[in-house]
Amino acid sequence: MPGAFLHPFAKPTRETFITVERGSGALLWDSDGNEMIDAMASLWYCQIGHGRSDVADLVAAQIADLSPMSNARVFFTGSGSEAVDSAMKLARLTHVRAGHPERRLIISRDRGYHGTNYGGTSAQGLPLNKEGYGELLADVVHVPADDAEALSVLMSERSDEIAALIMEPIQGAAGVYPPPPGYLEEARRLCDQHGALLIFDEVITAFGRLGTWFAADHYGVVPDLTTFAKGVTSGYQPLGGVIVGQQVRDALESDADFILRHGYTYSGHPTSCTAALANINIIKNEGLLAEAIRMGARLEAGLKAIESDGRVDHVRGEVAIFGVALRADQNAMTVRETMLEKGVIVRAIGTETVTLCPPLITTDDQIDRIIDVLATSLE
Ligand SMILES: Cc1ncc(COP(=O)(O)O)c(C=O)c1O
Repeated sequence: MPGAFLHPFAKPTRETFITVERGSGALLWDSDGNEMIDAMASLWYCQIGHGRSDVADLVAAQIADLSPMSNARVFFTGSGSEAVDSAMKLARLTHVRAGHPERRLIISRDRGYHGTNYGGTSAQGLPLNKEGYGELLADVVHVPADDAEALSVLMSERSDEIAALIMEPIQGAAGVYPPPPGYLEEARRLCDQHGALLIFDEVITAFGRLGTWFAADHYGVVPDLTTFAKGVTSGYQPLGGVIVGQQVRDALESDADFILRHGYTYSGHPTSCTAALANINIIKNEGLLAEAIRMGARLEAGLKAIESDGRVDHVRGEVAIFGVALRADQNAMTVRETMLEKGVIVRAIGTETVTLCPPLITTDDQIDRIIDVLATSLE
C-alpha cells in the first residue's frame, strides 16, 4: 500500500521512498540509519544544509484521516493557488489516464475565487482579477453562481467533454455567499451523471471554519478532490494541498510505471508540515470545531440584530464566516476605515460588503466589541 502522501514527480504506485529522518549540514540519514551526502542540495535549494525532520507523511496521514473522502491521499503544495492549479491538472490527468483525453472542460461558478496562478485565474469568476494577463487557460467556462438549472443545462450540452466542476462550497472572496439549499447536492449528482469530477476549493472553509474539519462534512457532500491551505497551519507557515479521492487515485495508480510529473520544490516542506501538525493538534485539543459554532452563533446573533434594525441591507454567511451587505447609502470602504480607527479589522469587498471571519478562539467580549464597533461605524 502506498502511503498517504502523494509524492511529486514520482510513480503514484511506488510504495517505498527514502524517509529522510535527520539532517545535519550536507549529511542526511534515512529511517534505517544510512548516512548520505546530499549532493543535490535536495532540489537545488538547500544552501545552508540540513537540520530538520521530515514530517510530511505524518501530516498527510492525519489530513487524509480527517477528510470526508475515504481512502484519500494528499498532495502538498505551498499555497492555495498552487493547490487549485494542482487540482485542475490532476482532474484533467485523471481523465487522460482513464482513456478520455477529450474530457478537458473545467466548469466554475461566477463569483468564485480560486487564487492567482493561471489555472485559478482562469477558473475564477471575478472578472476584474482576470484582466491584463493575456490569454488564460482554454476549456474553462463559467456558470451563474447559484443557478443549478443553468449548471444542469451546460453539463448536459457538454457532457462528454467535462473534466471537472470546481467550486468553493461557500464563496469567500466574492463577499461570503453560502450555497443555495440543495445546490451542492445537485452539483454532486450532476457530476456523477456526467462522469465529471467534483473539486471543492476549501482553501477558506477547511480546518474548522464551519465547525467541521471540512465544508464537505458540514454540507454532507463528498467531492473527488479538495483543495486546502490557510487554516491547515493558521498561516503560521505556508502550506496548501489537494486531497485526492478514490477515482483520481485509481487513474493515477492503475499503471505501476506511470510517473506523476507535477510538483513543487516545497511540496510537503517539513517546517510547514510541522506547523500543520501543531495547528491540527490545537484545533483538536482546544475543541475549536465546537468553538467555531459557539463563537459563530454569538457573532451571527449580533449581526442579525443589526440587520433586523434595518441598519444594513442583509447579512449572509454560516457558522463562523459572514458578509454584511450594506445599504446603497453606505460604503464598505468607509465602514472598514472607521472600524479600523476603532480597533477592529474587517475586510471591504468592493463598496457593498464587509466580511468577518474571526479566529475560532475569539472571546465573547471580543465578539461583542466587533458588533459594537460595526454598529457604531455604520452611521
Ligand atoms: C477559495 C480560495 N482558493 C484559493 C485561494 C488562493 O490561496 P493562496 O492565496 O494561498 O494562493 C484563496 C485565497 O484567498 C481562496 O480563498
